[in-house]
Amino acid sequence: MPAPKGYSARQIRLHWIVTVLIVLQFVLHEPIAEAWDLIEDGQIPAFNWLIPAHVIGGVLVLIFALWRLVLRQSRGVPPAPQVGSAALERAAHLGHIGLYALMILMPLSGLAAWFGGIDAAAEAHEVMKVALLALVGLHVLAALWHQFWLKDGLLLRMKRPAD
Ligand code: HEM
Ligand code: HEM
Repeated sequence: MPAPKGYSARQIRLHWIVTVLIVLQFVLHEPIAEAWDLIEDGQIPAFNWLIPAHVIGGVLVLIFALWRLVLRQSRGVPPAPQVGSAALERAAHLGHIGLYALMILMPLSGLAAWFGGIDAAAEAHEVMKVALLALVGLHVLAALWHQFWLKDGLLLRMKRPAD
């Protein structure tokens, strides 16, 4: 199967929906983190709708990440951009693998903590939160580098579908 010229409309929509969901997971994490602390102290936290919202938002990230992987496999993705450095191209590839791994492992660890009461999973969730923030930060910096330094129009690949 030849590689497509760009991402499909569905791949682009999923990329931006997941971006918004992950931002919301970070911005609105406080109620579930407080509830978790209370549960650990043996108390029962009061209901707050942002708690189920964190669970549902995270599960949606998991479903959409798996869907994206299926689309990568079935439809394919455009060839990686050439930036003239094999090391940077490898780093970009590893960065994308890391982002996918965290989009899957963050929800799984959260579910294991919340529904399985597994303390180590909550700790893993907190550690991976830092890794996800760092990788997303690097990813955004790379996108800006392409946009303003290399001026190769890479951002358009996540804006304009090419079927
Ligand atoms: C990509 C998806 C997710 C992201 C980005 C995310 C992000 C976060 C963040 C930033 C915190 C605060 C950590 C801290 O206090 O330092 C947190 C806490 C928590 N999240 Fe999530 N979350 C996700 C999915 C889920 C899911 C699906 C669940 C399932 C119930 C969940 C359960 C929890 C729990 C129990 C806590 C409190 C315990 C802890 O701090 O580790 N999360 N999450
Ligand atoms: C939580 C936030 C984000 C995550 C998890 C994420 C994840 C990913 C992943 C895994 C890819 C690889 C292609 C794929 O399989 O879909 C990708 C591509 C891309 N992302 Fe993001 N992204 C995020 C936010 C952003 C933001 C804020 C920007 C823009 C500033 C951006 C710009 C791009 C671009 C331009 C591509 C295409 C790169 C290429 O064609 O090689 N992303 N993103």
